[in-house]
Amino acid sequence: MIPLPAPNGIHARFAVLAPDVFRLRVGQENGPATPPSGAVVDRPAPEVSATVRRSRTGIRITTASGEFHWNGRTCAWELMDRRGLVAFRSRGGSTGFDHEGRPGFALDLADREALFGMGEGTGILDRRGTVREFWNIDVLGHAPAIHPALSSLYVAIPFALSLREGRAAGLFWDNPGRQRWDLGATDPRRWDLRAGTGIIDLFLFLGPTVESVVRGYSRLTGTMPMPPEWALGYHQSRYSYETQARVEAVAREFRRRELPCDALYLDIHHMDGYRVFTVGEGFPDLPAMTRRLARNGIRTVAIVDPGVKDDPRFPVLRRGRRRKAFVEAPGGTGDHIGRVWPGASRFPDFLNPAVRRWWGDEQRALLDQGIDGIWNDMNEPADFDRPDKTLPPAARHHTGDGVHPHAAVHNLYGQAMAQASRDGLLRHRPGQRPFVVTRAGYAGIQRHAIVWTGDTSSHWEHLREAVPMLLNLSLSGVPFCGGDVGGFLGNASAELFVRWLQFAAFTPFLRNHSNLGTRDQEPWAYGPEVEAVARETLRLRYQLIPYLYGLVRQAADTGDPVMRPLLWHHANDPVAVACNTQFLVGRDLLVAPVLEPGCPSRSVYLPNDVWYEFWTGERRVGGRPVLADTPLDRIPIYVRAGGLLPLAPVRNSTREVAGDTVALHLWPGPEGSLLWYEDDGVSLDHGTGAFHRRLITQERRGRTTRVGFGPAEGRFPSRLRTWRLVFWHLPATARVRIAGVPQESPGSPGVADGLLVVDVPQRADAFEVRVVGGSV
Ligand code: GLC
Repeated sequence: MIPLPAPNGIHARFAVLAPDVFRLRVGQENGPATPPSGAVVDRPAPEVSATVRRSRTGIRITTASGEFHWNGRTCAWELMDRRGLVAFRSRGGSTGFDHEGRPGFALDLADREALFGMGEGTGILDRRGTVREFWNIDVLGHAPAIHPALSSLYVAIPFALSLREGRAAGLFWDNPGRQRWDLGATDPRRWDLRAGTGIIDLFLFLGPTVESVVRGYSRLTGTMPMPPEWALGYHQSRYSYETQARVEAVAREFRRRELPCDALYLDIHHMDGYRVFTVGEGFPDLPAMTRRLARNGIRTVAIVDPGVKDDPRFPVLRRGRRRKAFVEAPGGTGDHIGRVWPGASRFPDFLNPAVRRWWGDEQRALLDQGIDGIWNDMNEPADFDRPDKTLPPAARHHTGDGVHPHAAVHNLYGQAMAQASRDGLLRHRPGQRPFVVTRAGYAGIQRHAIVWTGDTSSHWEHLREAVPMLLNLSLSGVPFCGGDVGGFLGNASAELFVRWLQFAAFTPFLRNHSNLGTRDQEPWAYGPEVEAVARETLRLRYQLIPYLYGLVRQAADTGDPVMRPLLWHHANDPVAVACNTQFLVGRDLLVAPVLEPGCPSRSVYLPNDVWYEFWTGERRVGGRPVLADTPLDRIPIYVRAGGLLPLAPVRNSTREVAGDTVALHLWPGPEGSLLWYEDDGVSLDHGTGAFHRRLITQERRGRTTRVGFGPAEGRFPSRLRTWRLVFWHLPATARVRIAGVPQESPGSPGVADGLLVVDVPQRADAFEVRVVGGSV
């Protein structure tokens, strides 16, 4: 790192990690040791070239993409691009430590600058004008009505994406203690960032596109690994399916009613007195149950909370105590004892690698009984009795490199637990992709687990908030996320349930979950009309799984989220940037969920492009809002002109063998592309080349449409036999050539006017389908 001149007592350094990615570290000489957060995994290439120029007042560091200025007297700094456009500028004299040694700095906020990301949060997409505290906390029912100024939730990711007039930049402050960011709430032109402990360790991204910032951040903190394909199926949960008989009855209902479902969840009642890793009397033969479910294509996921019941006869507690595995009370006077569901409990010190390993090994008790996935909850961690609802700030962690107070590492607790779960699954189910869901996390959580957004309420406000909440998580490097369908607390009305499900069908993690004592919320619980809508919704979801799976593959490769705010592709369109009620799935699918009760229509903003209504194929010119009908059985969905959307045959579980024909819908437009991706869906073999991947493109010039199938990559044999190309707005009389060979009357009979359907046999080499016809 490049040493920076600094006033007495301050230790400042700078590094160029890439021409557009920088690190600024400002500490105090003789300050307390700061524990590594583990968030950053990328090892930067050492040879990034930069010019360093020193002057009397400071230093300038220039790369191919931008320039950093530092004033050695005042610690003022700024980062700008090559054209001199400022990405971040500190307020003079603000960077440093207060009299209690707490780090902080302040930045100018520009006109029309909007701020996104920051992990999980309530409110609208643009966080400017609010206060965000980074301190993972169990907030039962994140209702605005209950907590009007809720500034913390379960997942704290101190990474912000700044967007001003189409230009993006990013800032990540790696510090897992408490942080408080005043994002222009007090002074609209000032972004004030403070932490309770530690140092300033900033990673700065110059952009200028949203994609390049989020990719840069994802490279730094690691992208998500491929989840098993069943993670994209429909999951059914409740607090709790209390007995084996009930779980099996629910599974049977799904199959009897032909409702797609891939997983059922066991909440805390499956345990013996909430003792972690045990199974209570309600489940007399769990292995037989999981076997029967598996035969029906349903996986079983069990909840695992961190609190270990403080029962001296409980073997897990005894083993943990023998290993000194628990977080110590302040002063080191024995273990901290808190209270969670099991009553008095001790908390494993997941920050310690040896404890993580032990915990991962304890998980075997569940795996041996056929449990397929782990659901980590209460891992902020929650501690009911304390006024601050979590471990005491001075509780002691042994991280493997010293002892650290809880306050300095709080936000890492849930992350480290998820890591223990995932690593344990990898050890004990070698070769299989782990499935871990977590409630709490920090920067980099995507490497270990799927994130679900905790205890929402069954109110329309919470359905509305779910859209920006999941989008901001997606912008924070967490592409695989979702929330409880129907809302957790309280009873969802039939209408709210339907609308929530229709929305969630387009979110990566699709799980229905509800609180103890609430009404039944399975898709059939609201009667036949709702069940029919739910069935159609879930069928569409399952038809979309290959499209989603391809997007997940991209997320694993690059960090590009599955679910994207409109601004991802339309950063220069101020209406798209401010849109809180719609989102994109990939580039081509625009979803406008219904977020209000009793509305026969909603306004949908279509960004500046041409769009097609998914259900009817109606053409719409974007750059303006349209009014879309919203009967109870569907929500407005649009496809971008030129878009390609594969729809697979319906299945009731991803375990069923997929049919071998995929309908590839193509909407007319100048250009579009699709990454088609297949692998075995469960193993890690894709990491060594066992996948099938190809790029499919569409191009239209005049009356000629070309569909290009790129060469198949990877050594996994595609399961597909036939591509059924469905060309919207092309006549069945169009002339078609497949790999140069003219086709005789390709149009399938009986298909609606303006739809050309062409069956193309699958092949591994690159080839082209050319269609001439239709209007210009
Ligand atoms: C927490 C979780 C919720 C779960 C409950 C009981 O409130 O967020 O999903 O059902 O605990 O385990």
